[in-house]
Amino acid sequence: MKKLLIRGGKKLEGSVEIVGAKNAALPLMVSSILTSEKLTLTNIPHVSDIANMANLLISLGIAVEMDGSPQDFGSQGRVLKFDASKISNPVAPYELVRKMRASIFILGPLLARMGKAKVSLPGGCAIGTRPVDLHLKAMEKLGAKIELHGGYIEASVDGRLKGAEINFEKVSVGATENAMMAATLAEGETVLNNAACEPEIIDLANCLNAMGAKIFGAGTPRIIIHGVERLGSARHRIISDRIEAGTYAIAAGITGGKIRLIGPEMWIMTGFKEELEKAGIVLKQVSSNEIEVSREGAVINPVSISTHPYPGFPTDMQAQFMSLMAIANGASTIEETIFENRFMHVLELVRMGANIEAHGNISVVKGVKELSGAEVMATDLRASVSLVLAGLVANGETIINRLYHLERGYERLAEKLISCGADIKILY
Ligand code: UD1
Repeated sequence: MKKLLIRGGKKLEGSVEIVGAKNAALPLMVSSILTSEKLTLTNIPHVSDIANMANLLISLGIAVEMDGSPQDFGSQGRVLKFDASKISNPVAPYELVRKMRASIFILGPLLARMGKAKVSLPGGCAIGTRPVDLHLKAMEKLGAKIELHGGYIEASVDGRLKGAEINFEKVSVGATENAMMAATLAEGETVLNNAACEPEIIDLANCLNAMGAKIFGAGTPRIIIHGVERLGSARHRIISDRIEAGTYAIAAGITGGKIRLIGPEMWIMTGFKEELEKAGIVLKQVSSNEIEVSREGAVINPVSISTHPYPGFPTDMQAQFMSLMAIANGASTIEETIFENRFMHVLELVRMGANIEAHGNISVVKGVKELSGAEVMATDLRASVSLVLAGLVANGETIINRLYHLERGYERLAEKLISCGADIKILY
């Protein structure tokens, strides 16, 4: 199994291309189900979740094709075309859902277009139980009949879904996206209250509107959708990955280096830019799509954070920020309010010499002068990358096992870090 061997201590300097956001790409790919015409997505990231989603869509009967033209880097595999004119098998099997929870996204679009869907229940995952009740309640509100049989969600509707007012009891990115997609083809008006406001939701709404949907207010907690009878074709460029950008910003900050992020605009860093700045990391928009990140001063300042839905501090940046705080000049607290059990990186960081104590959903991080390399085990996507960040600054050698977690969400992570001067070897 692939591993990374990192020899810490190098200041990273260079440029890194930030690719399209995985979390925007996944629902966007699924939105192809809503139309019998072609959907083209550009700025596709090369990560394994995208391949898993493409496989799921192909198993439904959707034709997925890579556009080989050089335009929009098509020749580099960044353009995917989807043709869902025929859907033969509206089922998401357990093997795929188990690997990728985002498979649940197909529920709403299949119901809206085909009137039925069968999706395996996801079960547990490394960062908690992650239920799908909000997705199911939203579909029921839109008029679907939901039954659970043999570990599967079986959903159906007579005729079209019906517009409704849906009040989410908890903010959920996925449930907001699922309901928004389903409602585009429902009869009448749908109102989503307490909707998630993440940039990826705005990106999805922009693409759906380009396909002919009538969605208003995406990016606010109240989204209004006027259902239409059919959607058409569109070509859409996926928004930059703010979590990838934030991760490289921390790579620059933690090593005291300077990295130019190519692709993102500053607004996508909302939610963690201020915290990075308080820690002593400087972010400068140097052109319309380039941000330069460097560290101001010799030390990292301690900054306490608490994760919240957008525009709060993103849970997907929590582990990386903890690595930064592990070598800060003082103590900080990190509170995780979105997922239970999202401190799997704590014990691994402690093995690298960090002084961190987790009490329930709060970790107290007392900054240490230096970390030391160790062999560590990656447990989930963001936890894994936090160990890479710690390894970049640790004394000696760090070995990161279970690389497949990283490959779910980071494109060529090791290569990008190496291009900025990191001493990393990929072991096969
Ligand atoms: C998405 C992101 C993930 C990110 C998370 C929170 C994608 C593909 N993934 O995941 O990277 O960490 O948002 O920003 O976009 N919940 C329920 N019932 C439900 C659904 C969710 O109780 O039916 C709970 C979850 O357990 C969690 C909270 O709601 O405690 C928020 O989860 P949600 O926003 O739905 O996360 P995802 O959409 O799965």
